[in-house]
Amino acid sequence: MIIYFTGTGNSRFVAERIAEVTGDKVLDAAQYTRIRETAAFTEDSRYIFVAPTYISAPPAAFMEFIRGSIFPDDAKAYFIMTAAGSMSVSPAFCEQIAADREFTYMGTAEVIMPQNYIAYFRMGTPELNRGKIESARQRIEELSGIINAGQRFPETRLKRWEYISVKSIFKTYYRVFMSAKPFRVTEGCVGCGRCARICPLGNIEMKSGRPVWGKACTHCMGCINLCPEEAIEFGRLTRNKPRYHGPGK
Ligand SMILES: Cc1cc2nc3c(=O)[nH]c(=O)nc-3n(C[C@H](O)[C@H](O)[C@H](O)COP(=O)(O)O)c2cc1C
Ligand code: SF4
Ligand code: SF4
Repeated sequence: MIIYFTGTGNSRFVAERIAEVTGDKVLDAAQYTRIRETAAFTEDSRYIFVAPTYISAPPAAFMEFIRGSIFPDDAKAYFIMTAAGSMSVSPAFCEQIAADREFTYMGTAEVIMPQNYIAYFRMGTPELNRGKIESARQRIEELSGIINAGQRFPETRLKRWEYISVKSIFKTYYRVFMSAKPFRVTEGCVGCGRCARICPLGNIEMKSGRPVWGKACTHCMGCINLCPEEAIEFGRLTRNKPRYHGPGK
């Protein structure tokens, strides 16, 4: 089974392309994370977790979901991180989850995809994004082949000091920077509710036809990038920035 977490669809794209080769079922973790639930998986012996890199690590909500869910004994676990630049020390976090859950750890691999962190970064041009997605297709094929052959992903070299520094800022970053407070909706909003349906943490409620953000934001950037009317801003930081509409759109 392939279980993914996504904000703007990059990780779903990767999960679905892998499934085309491996034949695994694909599950969106949002159906559980949205309602703060965990799950019990009993059928499969191999799990492929796909998620975006957030500040050099897997998203905290996804890690919590895996840690809290039930999996069969001796399940094999592959981790695939999508990233705009580098998955960095994510493998250290994934290996730790595998150890905690007593999975057979099959490794962590990176797939470079377009940048979606519109709040703090420049978005790629459509051309650059198309190029990244094309290169990703080849990478996904390579990783699918490794999975199908039952092999481990090649080991990645990690800098211990980098892991320690990411761990030390992790909680502070989530607490201080991953706030939904700066989100606001403009007059362009047509009340379609897409932002609320997309949010993987169920952090948006529609009130009188307008989105209202709660406190459980993980900065996935789904609401702001995928609003069909581009009617969401993050303070002044996103004014006149092109939105990233996800792969294949
Ligand atoms: C909160 C946040 C933090 C991010 N941190 C990193 C990072 O540390 N390194 C990196 O290469 N990309 C980073 N990115 C970019 C995403 O990992 C990348 O665009 C990913 O493919 C998005 O996947 P999704 O569409 O499935 O959500 C970050 C994006 C967000 C929203
Ligand atoms: S997705 Fe955009 S247009 Fe639709 S309700 Fe949300 S803010 Fe309004
Ligand atoms: S509120 Fe927006 S940015 Fe925050 S988790 Fe939900 S969809 Fe993502």
